[in-house]
Amino acid sequence: MLAGIAAAAIAVGACTLLIYPLKSSLDPLSLDVVYVPAILLVAAGWGAALGIATTLASLVAFDFFHVPPTLEFTLGSDAGPLIVFAVAALAATLVASVTGRLRVVRERERARQQSRARLVAAADEERRRVVRDLHDGAQQRLVHAVITLKLARRELEAGREPRPLVVEALEQAERANEELRELAHGILPAVLTRGGLRAGVEALTSRVSLPVTVDVSAERLATAIEATAYFVVAEALTNAVKHSRADNAEVKARVEDGALRVEVRDDGIGGAALGRGTGLLGLHDRVDALGGRLLLESAEGRGTVVVAILPVQEQR
Ligand SMILES: Nc1ncnc2c1ncn2[C@@H]1O[C@H](COP(=O)(O)OP(=O)(O)O)[C@@H](O)[C@H]1O
Ligand SMILES: [Mg+2]
Repeated sequence: MLAGIAAAAIAVGACTLLIYPLKSSLDPLSLDVVYVPAILLVAAGWGAALGIATTLASLVAFDFFHVPPTLEFTLGSDAGPLIVFAVAALAATLVASVTGRLRVVRERERARQQSRARLVAAADEERRRVVRDLHDGAQQRLVHAVITLKLARRELEAGREPRPLVVEALEQAERANEELRELAHGILPAVLTRGGLRAGVEALTSRVSLPVTVDVSAERLATAIEATAYFVVAEALTNAVKHSRADNAEVKARVEDGALRVEVRDDGIGGAALGRGTGLLGLHDRVDALGGRLLLESAEGRGTVVVAILPVQEQR
């Protein structure tokens, strides 16, 4: 704002000076148009209010320095210059509102691009995690099982007792199986894909160390919507347990007005904010990618409400 006022003052001063040399060859009363580009520039940069203030300052300066008799205020007897200034003020308002809206659109587009980039980065990270978990977990167990079975075969061929080695191999194979199931569960729980959002949320709440009231409608929705709704509930409940010190939580989900509305509420300390961690921001990105909205209400001491609104498509 201060920069705007300085720019306006410089612009008005410069135009006032510029008019002096022009006055000798042109009609002085028509030279107020010199101010118009300066006024528009200020309006585009700093908004309509400063644009109109610049118009008024230009009017005063023009009147004082260039309308004969100069060095006193006389404008008003001739409407010509006043019309120029009225038009300039109007144009300044228009220019300011258009550039303001452009800026908002550009800002929104930039935020969307950042959100998409974060989504891609998160997906890559998730893939890396899966590869790492596979490599360190199930794959190691299976390698172990295979080697042990080979040893058992050698024992068998030599006419010795292979049983302890077979037992060990079986144990390793069973653990590999267990780890694979856990890994798959972390990616997308089977209970969600098989039983839908209600079953998924019930499975979640049964594992949370907090009493949770569940009111989730039973209908099946598109896979992407069910998965995103599930992740919203999972993250919000994890947050409630981790950060909120709440005594109770509540999960509601229902389709209304063509959108699935998922709401997770806790009665904890509040003060949650988007962007302080990665969880809520990740949810925002997922919800945004489906054309939905994530709303967060979390005043200090008043609990936290996370709401996701996900437009529901017809296809499944
Ligand atoms: N239900 C909640 N109650 C109180 N504070 C919360 C809650 N949820 C989130 N917060 C606060 O907001 C921050 C951001 O949350 P989130 O993005 O999920 O990050 P984090 O990875 O830390 O969980 C948390 O670090 C925590 O301080
Ligand atoms: Mg979190």
